[in-house]
Amino acid sequence: MKPEKLVELAKEAMTHAYVPYSGYQVGAALLCADGTVYQGCNIENASYSPTVCAERTAFFKAVYDGRRDFTAIAVCGGKGGRITGPFPPCGVCRQVMREFCREDFLIYMVNAQSYEVHTLAELLPYSFSAGEHMT
Ligand code: THU
Repeated sequence: MKPEKLVELAKEAMTHAYVPYSGYQVGAALLCADGTVYQGCNIENASYSPTVCAERTAFFKAVYDGRRDFTAIAVCGGKGGRITGPFPPCGVCRQVMREFCREDFLIYMVNAQSYEVHTLAELLPYSFSAGEHMT
């Protein structure tokens, strides 16, 4: 799949956001190795801390469906649907990515006109993952 298509799906996912507190809509589109895409949005809560990010919504939907093989994610965000960017995934989401992805997993950070792409290794150096650290 072309990155532009994944970016479009992340933008569409933004429109599903539940953000009565921040007004900040975030959308994610997670690409599986077989070409399947899982979309996610942020879902906020009056108690704040139960809020879940768009990236984790996408990952948890996919993992529930038995998916384990991921190649890329596109993420975008902004207030009132206007994309500001590039959108960098938060640290918690980077760690969740590391649970299920190799370090060459690609992260497309979308901005108003285009996107920039980084590997998970670039965004989460010296990462902790079960395979490498637990014996
Ligand atoms: N948010 C995400 O959806 N993904 C991130 O990686 C960082 C932050 C959401 C959480 C909250 O609903 C809003 O953005 C403002 O922090």
